[in-house]
Order: sequence, then structure tokens, then C-alpha cells
Amino acid sequence: MALPMLQVALDCESTAEALNVARQVMDQVDVLETGTILCYQDGVKAVSALRAVGPDKIVLADVKCADAGTKFGKASKDAGADWMTCINAATVPTMVNARKEIEVQVELYEGWDNKERMQEWLNNGIDQVVYHQSRDAKFAGQKWGEKDVANVKALIDMGFKVSVTGGVHPEVLKLFKDLPVYCFIAGRDIRNAEDPHARAKQYKDEIKRIWG
Ligand code: 5RP
Repeated sequence: MALPMLQVALDCESTAEALNVARQVMDQVDVLETGTILCYQDGVKAVSALRAVGPDKIVLADVKCADAGTKFGKASKDAGADWMTCINAATVPTMVNARKEIEVQVELYEGWDNKERMQEWLNNGIDQVVYHQSRDAKFAGQKWGEKDVANVKALIDMGFKVSVTGGVHPEVLKLFKDLPVYCFIAGRDIRNAEDPHARAKQYKDEIKRIWG
């Protein structure tokens, strides 16, 4: 089984703060995520800044596009991103327009469980989804469990590359030990750690221990 990748979510208030974290964890992560909060604060300039410090990394623009797929796709690509996100509620034409510009990850929040629609994503070359526990659901006490494992397995069985995110910490990874998760995405747990590099390394070590 391929090793899951590690994505650091840089939901920072400024590009400077994001670059500071990115530089510390660079040798441990595969994907640098320009978090939604950072995109909102600093726009696609933040994507370009991350591209510049991580030329050999995958850079994601987490714009959570809901409409105007071509515009978001082009802006993300021109800024240097490899991937961008669409929200699952976006229409198929929006996702397809974005996909013509750049690789798309669909972020699954509410009401995503419509197999016919998901098959349309696959038919249009959109094969990455992010299985998500929202920040606000986490604040309300939601935890990771077997239901999530079953949902991730069903998505993988459909043919998706599935990333897992939302209040993730290293202890969560082993829940998914039997599955070829594509990426684990961690934000606050790495950014707010006393030593972000050491914390990112804990994820990488745990990934190697479980999937290596
Ligand atoms: C929020 C996101 C976050 O970037 C992602 O869920 C990781 O954040 P955290 O680990 O801090 O929960 O997409 O919309």
C-alpha cells in the first residue's frame, strides 16, 4: 500500500505566519495547503509565496470554490497552485470548469452522499475528495470513529483518492490503518505545536509505522 502523504493546512492570519510554519515543516510534508482562512486574508498572493518557498512541493489553494470554476481554477493555477478545492455543493459544471484549469479536490461537508453525482465527478476526471470533519463540528465535540472509517472506505471503493482532515492528530491515523488514505491533512495540531517540525515528524513516523 502506498504511504499516505502529509498535508499541512496553513490557515494562518498572514502569509508571513504561513511561511514561517512552512519553512519549519518543509522536510516532513508533501503538500503545502494555502488554507481557506489565509486565502481570505491575503488572496492568491499567499499561494504564490508558498510556491516560492516550496518549489518541489504540491501546493494547494483551499479556495472552497462554490461557483465560477474557471475563474477560481485559473487564478489558483496562475498563482502557482497544483490543486484547488471545490465544495461538494458546487454544481458539476463548476467543478468541470475548474478541472479544465487545475486538479480539483472536492471537500465533503454536508449532503455529499449522492453516488450518481459522485460518479459524474469521477467521469470528469475529478478523483480526489477530502473527507472532512468541519472545524465548527469539531468545536461542538465531534470525534473520529468507525463511521468515518466506513465512509472513507466506501469512497475509496468508488474509485476516489481520499484525504482525511478536520482536527486530525497523530493518534487518529491508526483508525484508518487498513485503508490506502491519500493524504492526512493537519492544521492546528502542527501549527500550534511548540515545535511544529517535531509534530510533523510524528505524523510522518506514524505513517511509516502503519503503512510502511
Ligand atoms: C478548514 C480546513 C482546514 O484547513 C483543515 O480541516 C485542517 O484544519 P485543522 O487540522 O486545523 O482542523 O479545510 O476548512
